[in-house]
Amino acid sequence: MRLSVGEFVPRAYRADGREVSCRAILGAPYCAKPVDPIQRVNVFVPEEYFTGGSVGGYNAVTAPIFMPNSVGGYLPGPAEEPGDDARNGGANSLFRALEHGLVVVSGGVRGRTSGKRSDEFFEGADAGYRGVETGRMVGRAPALVVDQKAIVRFVRLNADVIPGNAERIVTNGTSAGGALSALMGATGNDPGYEPYLERIGAASGRDDVFASNCFCPIHNLEHADAAYEWQFAGEREWHRTKHKVVDGVVTRVPVSGELTDAQMELSARLAARFPDYVDGLGLTDPEGRLLTLNPDGSGSFRDFVVGKLVDSAQRELRLHEDVAASIGKSIPGSAVDQVNALDVRDERVCGLDWRAYVHAITRMKATPAFDASDLSSPENEEFGDQTVGARHFSADREALGFFSDSGKMADPEVVRLINPIPHIRSGMPTRHWRIRHGSFDRDTSFAIPVILATRLRNVGCDVDFRIPWGVPHAGDYQMDELFAWVDGLCG
Ligand code: DHB
Repeated sequence: MRLSVGEFVPRAYRADGREVSCRAILGAPYCAKPVDPIQRVNVFVPEEYFTGGSVGGYNAVTAPIFMPNSVGGYLPGPAEEPGDDARNGGANSLFRALEHGLVVVSGGVRGRTSGKRSDEFFEGADAGYRGVETGRMVGRAPALVVDQKAIVRFVRLNADVIPGNAERIVTNGTSAGGALSALMGATGNDPGYEPYLERIGAASGRDDVFASNCFCPIHNLEHADAAYEWQFAGEREWHRTKHKVVDGVVTRVPVSGELTDAQMELSARLAARFPDYVDGLGLTDPEGRLLTLNPDGSGSFRDFVVGKLVDSAQRELRLHEDVAASIGKSIPGSAVDQVNALDVRDERVCGLDWRAYVHAITRMKATPAFDASDLSSPENEEFGDQTVGARHFSADREALGFFSDSGKMADPEVVRLINPIPHIRSGMPTRHWRIRHGSFDRDTSFAIPVILATRLRNVGCDVDFRIPWGVPHAGDYQMDELFAWVDGLCG
């Protein structure tokens, strides 16, 4: 696991018509007792840092270390290289980070299908099976966190060889990978992961990071079903896209359906469970007012969520006006015209009709959205282990009368180990957070990122949180803003 400078090889990468030169170490093992071939890491360093130079104001001593993960759908997330971004077009985050003068560490982490052959294509994930068939199902919770922590420890172990500042590690991820990034921020040095880290022969030492960037983190899984119905109860139709291979090409095809009467009834009962959870969190807004919910789902917490959406629409409108002003003529149709749930007067967004908005963006998942009754969801599989394929995990199952034998319920400690929320406390090592969740994202309720951002603020963290208008379930967009945020913290 110890690296030497001699292992760095020169590499030039091309993307989006540009080229970046660096030195790289590819495929280094980051733990002494790997259990899956994915557990390898790539390190990329701007060429200039080997010749005493600087890039964008950073040098070999000061450069932050950007640590993206490629996890999606709780699937295995392999180590990546700088290049094109298959999902968003343009250059990927690794390439752009290198151009910006950051050192990049991309490690492979296990996921729910690690060990088995599976051609599953997951909503949001740009590839199907991304691991190696071994027959050993070693990638279930909390493996993704364990591996990313082992990668952080590996970087600190080799801090004398890897240029950059190992005290300025910034994690990044999208969706399940956004959850992983949040977990890296919330659980730095938590002894609860130690037995798992020992099992894979991780280096000893600290695994806290400096800052966490999270795109649409799909987390807080045990409360996600209730949160989803708090938002979507009453919406019978669901609409989503599925990946399908047509003539060897992955295409997205729209699928839709309706909740059954039994699902509608379950939806209402789940929705009714959410206010108690929110009230129990004791969240407050920036003015110190308590954020709570009434039994019918209305209340200051919902007003706060609506306020975030209104801010988002207002910002979008202002950007539209700015562009119009810069070209000296008005442009018809701003992005906020896409939904008619907004009350816009004189270029000011005065309000948003919550029910009309939720109806306009539509439900994506049937009820229950995450903890499927037949154990068929990706999250059910995430809570399996080497012998049990899938488990339940919802905190609301028992209260709703869904008893199942204990073998089918995930160990509460394992559920806790992949939820950042219960770990958030004052004095956490990671103070700096940036969270983005698109206003058209229906993969989880808006309540989920709002709870994360608010709880972090309430314990004194520095949180840059926004719900960018019109953005669906997506990540690695507005990367210039992300790197400007890093510069603001490290530059
Ligand atoms: C992801 C999306 C989901 O809707 C989900 O339930 C879990 C993960 C993802 O894109 O990573």
